[in-house]
Amino acid sequence: MRNPEPPTRGPRASRGSSVGELSADLRYKHHSQIMNGSEEIVEFLPVNNGKKMEKRGPKRCVVLLVIVISALLLSLIVGFMVWHFQYWNAKVQKIYNGYLRITNRQFVDAYENSNSSEFAELAGKVKDTLAALYGSIPALGPYHKTSVVTAFSEGSVIAYYWSEFSIPQHKVKDAQWALMGERIFNIPPKSRALPTLSVGSFVAYPVDPRTAQTSLDKSCSFALHTKVGEVTHFTTPGFPDSPYPNRARCQWVLRGDADQVLSLTFRSFDVAPCDERESDQVKVYDSLSPLEPRAVVELCGTYPPSYNLTFLSSQNVLLVTLITNTPLRHPGFAAQFFQLPKMSMCGGALTEVAGTFSSPYYPGHYPPNIDCLWNIEVPSGNNVKVRFKTFYLLEPHMTLGSCSKDYVEINGEKYCGEKPPFVVASKSNKMTVRFHSDASYTDSGFLAEYLSYDSSDPCPGMFTCNTGRCIKSELRCDGWADCTDFSDELDCVCNATHQFTCQNKFCKPLFWVCDTVNDCGDNSDELQCGCSGQTFKCRDGKCIPESKKCDHLRDCADGSDEADCGDGAGAASCPQNSYKCRSGVCVSKANPECDGMRDCSDGSDEEQCECGTRSFNKQSRIVGGQNSDVGEWPWQVSLHAQGQGHLCGASLISPNWLVSAAHCFVDDMRNNMRYSDPRVWTAYLGLHDQSQRQASTVQERKVKSVISHRLFNDFTFDHDIAVLELDQPVTYSNWVRPICLPDATHSLPPGKAIWVTGWGLTAEGGTGAVVLQKGEIRVINQTTCHRLLPQQITPRMVCVGFLNGGVDACQGDSGGPLSSMEDNGRMFLAGVVSWGEGCARRDKPGVYTRVPLLRDWIKEKTGV
Ligand code: ARG
Repeated sequence: MRNPEPPTRGPRASRGSSVGELSADLRYKHHSQIMNGSEEIVEFLPVNNGKKMEKRGPKRCVVLLVIVISALLLSLIVGFMVWHFQYWNAKVQKIYNGYLRITNRQFVDAYENSNSSEFAELAGKVKDTLAALYGSIPALGPYHKTSVVTAFSEGSVIAYYWSEFSIPQHKVKDAQWALMGERIFNIPPKSRALPTLSVGSFVAYPVDPRTAQTSLDKSCSFALHTKVGEVTHFTTPGFPDSPYPNRARCQWVLRGDADQVLSLTFRSFDVAPCDERESDQVKVYDSLSPLEPRAVVELCGTYPPSYNLTFLSSQNVLLVTLITNTPLRHPGFAAQFFQLPKMSMCGGALTEVAGTFSSPYYPGHYPPNIDCLWNIEVPSGNNVKVRFKTFYLLEPHMTLGSCSKDYVEINGEKYCGEKPPFVVASKSNKMTVRFHSDASYTDSGFLAEYLSYDSSDPCPGMFTCNTGRCIKSELRCDGWADCTDFSDELDCVCNATHQFTCQNKFCKPLFWVCDTVNDCGDNSDELQCGCSGQTFKCRDGKCIPESKKCDHLRDCADGSDEADCGDGAGAASCPQNSYKCRSGVCVSKANPECDGMRDCSDGSDEEQCECGTRSFNKQSRIVGGQNSDVGEWPWQVSLHAQGQGHLCGASLISPNWLVSAAHCFVDDMRNNMRYSDPRVWTAYLGLHDQSQRQASTVQERKVKSVISHRLFNDFTFDHDIAVLELDQPVTYSNWVRPICLPDATHSLPPGKAIWVTGWGLTAEGGTGAVVLQKGEIRVINQTTCHRLLPQQITPRMVCVGFLNGGVDACQGDSGGPLSSMEDNGRMFLAGVVSWGEGCARRDKPGVYTRVPLLRDWIKEKTGV
């Protein structure tokens, strides 16, 4: 039996032959001919040629396969073209927020009410103006869908609006460019034929889809106009009894009368904790449109009532928005605002011999867009000195080192960011201090005092540092850098009977010579020191027992005892105080890691530098106090032992590793406490107040492993360091952040001020602190350290404190950080609280584990 095959759909069929026709005269074609479209009939099959049929079976399959493949290919091509065409021409919706200034209209009260006919009339005109404006820009005109005016405010009249565009994907960039170009331009009133409105300037910015007015929740939109002498209050819905709504898109339009500015204060603030990815957020804008370049502050998390959350506007309006994304339940905020007359002038002439001045509205956040100029003039013959007691001019996304946003400028030099108290002196009886605040983000500013001083004797009875600071004259040429710029130790004539003259001309006490510590800075005090018999001389001059050479431990500060050991262990180490780049190149600059400058050509000194910073909106505002501020030390960890509460501190160095002191994890069998067992410990991160461990900012973790240094000596406390792994990584937030780990070559120069923090006892034999305490202490020279605590100090230890006592760590601070601020403002883990004789006693400074010396060990154990 012959298997009648269905007619193939070849080119012939596509040329219109009917299936019937085909089946009548043409049963089979050679498949290649079908493919070629040839109409030549090669062969007719005899009706009963069963054998031949069988043979032809596979050929039919090939035909089918080819057909299927070509059909597939065809549909792929068609699909691709459809997709391409679709994509190419697909329109994307883009929304821009903006405002424009109308110069030929006067503001009337009815413009505040969006339901008034006056509002509607002007809004209509603004819409036409916008349409005309966009129409004149080819990259925008054809795609403009609609514009909606959301509010008006004084000046003459400012119209706030959003505009929607529907732009083909491939034209989006052009449109964006067009808007960029047109962002701010002054339209001469007559040069553009715009419908009856004169437009002074026009601004438009792309919108964060979350803040798009289209997504605004009408039931959570409020307009408040405060009256003269009145304080107007508002809160998040349900505050404080019920949490604010989930997925809220709320806004508060705040207004005052013309020529007034607004002062807004959050009295209570508690929203979901800040999180890098998704979080609830309150934002304040110096505008009635949520424009990022007009944002004054971005708030999330919880602020204690002591925080200064007062913000000033530059005009008579402010916009507060609340966007929530997390399902967390928090009460929200209670806020109040009032109006006050706009500052007619900021700054002024200061002609007294001494006085104070501050940024506008200090300690409230200064307003955006303000410039102040103080001209200080003191009696001729005298000079001026300004001391900034507090200084906070910090903006998010600010590039370190460049004061391109808010700044104070004195004698042509700009100052910005957050600074500890500092002094600026002039070389004449005049000084101009300029303060500039740009259009976005503000801070609480500065408080300064100025005084006139006799230029021939700037510091009566004292020594004047080149920085202008006065220090006691005994501190001059005493071998200690008391001026931050070392100027008290320059140009010294050393007293030969008890001082050594360094090559760089510093004078150092004679008994510091050949004490294995580079006190001069150029190592000249350690050069001419021979090492006796069984000792090895480090490259820096220090003598160590021969047995310590090549024992895999770094006993010479420069690692030279482990160099040339033939096992590769430090073979390529760099000379003392020089940093080794990944490429092996040595950089001779001190502490170059993460200082914001690329010192290694391979950039390795600036890698992994997401550390050692505090969140921008946390400020340490308790001047002279010992309580820390919330978020001031986000790497500080409290370690609680089961049933015993807080016992030790620790520092966060990565999402799941902590550094602490080994002596915290020594078992106490008499009391049946196995402190070496990780299960005993709970770590609290982001903690401020020990009684508030449930606070939303706190992250609680169990400890997965405790690794103490193998060479920790329970008797001498040598190598007092441990690393702890958390069971789950923490999430970085404003309250939880890692501290930078110093490179092994990181130096801690004697005299350097460092911070110690912890919840330890606040007095020897006293009680533990509830609120995290901070104390500023100074690095003490190793020789002095040996002298004060004889036979107890090893190279892994550093004394930090004051010889007079007074500030120190104490029981319960152990394991906690010594935070050292380096040039670029980042904090480095200089040490770990280890031990001390009593607490804060005279001549008994605290002793800390030198972290740089154990840097390689930390890396080996944690990979961090
Ligand atoms: N070993 C103490 C502790 O366990 C720390 C002592 C620090 N003492 C000092 N005076 N600095 O908490």
